[in-house]
Amino acid sequence: MEIVIVDMQETAGSLVADAISHLVESTVNPVLGVATGSSPGAVYRELGRRVASGQLSLKNTQAFMLDEYVGLPPEHPQRYRVVIDREFVQPTDIDPANVHGPDGQAQDIDQACADYERAIAAAGGIDLQILGIGSDGHIAFNEPGSSLGSRTRLKTLTKQTRVDNARFFDDNVDSVPQHCLTQGVGTIMEADHLVLLAFGQSKAEAIHHMVEGPVSAMWPATALQFHPHVTVLLDEAAASRLQLASYARQAWDSKPAWQGL
Ligand code: F6R
Repeated sequence: MEIVIVDMQETAGSLVADAISHLVESTVNPVLGVATGSSPGAVYRELGRRVASGQLSLKNTQAFMLDEYVGLPPEHPQRYRVVIDREFVQPTDIDPANVHGPDGQAQDIDQACADYERAIAAAGGIDLQILGIGSDGHIAFNEPGSSLGSRTRLKTLTKQTRVDNARFFDDNVDSVPQHCLTQGVGTIMEADHLVLLAFGQSKAEAIHHMVEGPVSAMWPATALQFHPHVTVLLDEAAASRLQLASYARQAWDSKPAWQGL
């Protein structure tokens, strides 16, 4: 894994936007994987700035979401499709019809999950997947104990995740849905390049396990140790439990700038 420790989230946003710009310029049918939550905010803001200034266009890009709550009405402001429309689709010029997510309102959940896997494959797979990480080590909503080979499916959210996400629901944990549809760890591992962002002390333990711990379903993000191309962007607080933080700084500082992420 390449570990990049940044001074502020905007620096990470700019580096990831560079990688996305390079992808879009060098690929005929670019496919982006998008995450919700606070961690990718600076990336979407920077993409919006570049589109507004004419430096970037996402008109030919397709995007696939990682996950979706089950049971929220279509117009709910915290439904992930609504969040992605607000934070990523509206500030850029991506065609909303090119943005896909698992159907959290489907009658036949298994069918919806299988259809989602097929849609990703039909698009040619995901070129660059943006990820956050839960304080319990989840990626997408693959909670502790998830199969490291899992595919898109229904999951029950842990109490920890519902407490963490209560801030989006007026601090009322009871309003956070109990279930979600999520890409599996195995689905995520098929993306060409995984770009994970984590900021703040609350992520330090999960980052320590993901980068330096033994691989375990109890910390699902540890599966990323098997992926050939992972970039992890952290602030000092999220990196604070890494034994090899100073080596990561040295490696990043000596990398030629033109190489990018
Ligand atoms: C959201 C997702 C989750 C979040 C994670 C971190 O689509 O897949 O895994 O990335 O819960 O959330 P934030 O960024 O809000 O700390």
